[in-house]
Amino acid sequence: MNILLLGSGGRESTFAWKISKSPLCKQLFIAPGNAGTGQYGTNVDIKATDFSKIKDFVLENSISMVVVGPEEPLVKGIFDFFAADSALSAVPVIGPSQAGAELEGSKNFSKAFMRRHLIPTAASATFTKHSLQEGLAYLEEHPLPVVLKADGLAAGKGVLICQTTEEAQKELEEMLNGKFGDASNTVVIEEFLDGIELSVFVLTDGVSYKILPEAKDYKRIGEGDTGLNTGGMGSISPVPFADAEFMKKVEENIIKPTVHGLKVDQIHYKGFIFIGLMNVKGEPYVIEYNVRMGDPETESVLPRLDSDLVELFQAVAEQRLDDVELKISNKTAATVVLVSSGYPGNYLKGKTVSNIEHIKGSTVFHAGTILEEGQVKTDGGRVLAVTALGDTMFDAVQQAVADAGRIYFDGRYFRSDIGFDLL
Ligand code: AMP
Ligand code: GLY
Repeated sequence: MNILLLGSGGRESTFAWKISKSPLCKQLFIAPGNAGTGQYGTNVDIKATDFSKIKDFVLENSISMVVVGPEEPLVKGIFDFFAADSALSAVPVIGPSQAGAELEGSKNFSKAFMRRHLIPTAASATFTKHSLQEGLAYLEEHPLPVVLKADGLAAGKGVLICQTTEEAQKELEEMLNGKFGDASNTVVIEEFLDGIELSVFVLTDGVSYKILPEAKDYKRIGEGDTGLNTGGMGSISPVPFADAEFMKKVEENIIKPTVHGLKVDQIHYKGFIFIGLMNVKGEPYVIEYNVRMGDPETESVLPRLDSDLVELFQAVAEQRLDDVELKISNKTAATVVLVSSGYPGNYLKGKTVSNIEHIKGSTVFHAGTILEEGQVKTDGGRVLAVTALGDTMFDAVQQAVADAGRIYFDGRYFRSDIGFDLL
């Protein structure tokens, strides 16, 4: 079959790499893709949110499956757009309906969902401009630190952890006055969870589910997890503390009620659920839901998946995921992300990337890259993700770090301590 994959980051490069290995995939198209995705299929110059161009392309190229990488098309309702169009309704979209995408698109919605279905999460309250005074009073009584979250999508910047009441009150007022645009018209004030984070990934067909390998994401720019937050500087899978006992709690207390809750609420959901969890003294709490895979977690999760991903997607579309067996590698995957100088602030672009072709021990997934006159140039903050598999975490990290160091572009930076906190 012909498959259209939407997106252009490291996550989508990894999807493209994996989908292209499937004998079920005849032709793969990536819209818009990057300099690396072209080795696995054909890049198409269409934005992942341009539904009308996507429609034309799907019809002209006999596409029989659409795989959605990022959240934006999902939150904008690409699933419903296909379902409502008689020419497109037979083409499955891997990703939730717009209602399901609210789990990521609105923190207030996801908190209410968790409360309704008794899913463990931080205690919270929601405020708008009209309830600013109540919000300020609520903060007066709230223990510190306290977490403020913009309700809507804010490009990963909408979460603030405040150490003093004064700071929190000032931030609440600024957020409700448009600090993050419309995204912070509503603000969720949340209890701070003290623990260690991990990312759990579930693929569901709306009835049953499969748990994919879990991963840990390294979010800070600096080694030792210091400095500014980024989109993610590396990842590890599996996560040693996510042992059978812990994952059993995750499945029973979180995954089952989540999938069941979607069904009870009659929310159409055929796609990935990314559960950001905090391990608080051995008990899992949900920090957030995302309605897509994580980036850079995908880069270490999919290389451990030995099953055919397209076969899994077909089973999701036909609601027979229960019949398919998931094959997971016992190896550890480590991903190191190479970023541009200045990232996560203003960064340089257009730098020539060299030596990728000589990397043998790792797989190099492109993220912010572009092809110019046959040369790979940097075109984003996160430029490449280098993934190695090893028999131990130490082997995997060592290989990925060594290979990251072999790739060069002006001002390139990466963290060489991915996974060290877990060793
Ligand atoms: P989010 O955008 O919801 O993923 O939040 C961004 C980051 O803020 C998370 O990955 C956590 O590191 C942190 N965070 C969010 N909520 C909490 C919380 N309730 N307690 C502690 N840290 C949190
Ligand atoms: N790595 C975190 C995310 O994809 O949101």
